[in-house]
Amino acid sequence: MIAFDWLQRARAEGFAIGAFNVGNLETFKAIVQAAANKKSPIIIESSPGETHWMGASNIADIGKNFSKEYGIPIIVNLDHSETPEDCMAAIEAGYGLVHFDGSKFSYEENVKIAKQVVEAAHSKGIIVEGEIDRIVGAGSEVHKEMYTVEQIRSGYTDPKKARKFIEETGVDVFAAFFGNIHGTVPPGGQPPLDIALLQKVKEIAGTFLSLHGGSGIDESDIKLAIEMGGINKVNVNTDLRVAFRASLEKTLKDNPDTVALYKIFPPVIKSVQQVVERWIDICGSANKV
Ligand code: 13P
Repeated sequence: MIAFDWLQRARAEGFAIGAFNVGNLETFKAIVQAAANKKSPIIIESSPGETHWMGASNIADIGKNFSKEYGIPIIVNLDHSETPEDCMAAIEAGYGLVHFDGSKFSYEENVKIAKQVVEAAHSKGIIVEGEIDRIVGAGSEVHKEMYTVEQIRSGYTDPKKARKFIEETGVDVFAAFFGNIHGTVPPGGQPPLDIALLQKVKEIAGTFLSLHGGSGIDESDIKLAIEMGGINKVNVNTDLRVAFRASLEKTLKDNPDTVALYKIFPPVIKSVQQVVERWIDICGSANKV
């Protein structure tokens, strides 16, 4: 139960484990190198699109290989899976954590599927993350539009509803929403996190808590959410994608004649690695391995 054990330790020692999305091998390498450099445990995660692009068993196997090669714990997580089939495929492939995002279903349907996923996962020592509220933000992108305060607040977690869902499903991790949104928005568009609400969720949830939508949130707010709000897992994707793309564009421009990919990607990996190292510092998970 590596995922459970590490989250337990994060809770006991007041740090969070960064959960970073992978869409290709180079991003995978960047995250793992950052974790090795910082001596930090790491969660590697794949969204439905990323999982279908790379293949669930490839991601699970690369995680195992890198964990051995770099000597760091790597928990592989299925991020925002919306179907029980994808959850089961990840469980079969060897993921350590499965996030079933049933927020698009009715509450009853969400509970029904989440329970099935929990049963299948727990029988193999795998833990499950659940979600009831729909996170604002259409994906891990650089959004040009702002969301209204009402839009963002409409997705906030109701602590009592969260507790009921946790009791009814047996999920191990709960995705709480208290101002966190997916992707980045123009300056001024990211509201401060509602730490008081998160503390209410923490008081009654009884599970590990995750913070989605890390990119774009003020660093001090993330630290408060970890230290005072009990966040144990921080999801980050857009920051890595932005660094990857910017560095790739620059590298191609600087080396117009290079075609050997292993010569093109090192600076790209380096720049994503730097982003991940910053997030590991924010999460407080450095030197825990
Ligand atoms: P960001 O893209 O906003 O960092 O969010 C990632 C995420 O929450 C993945 O589940």
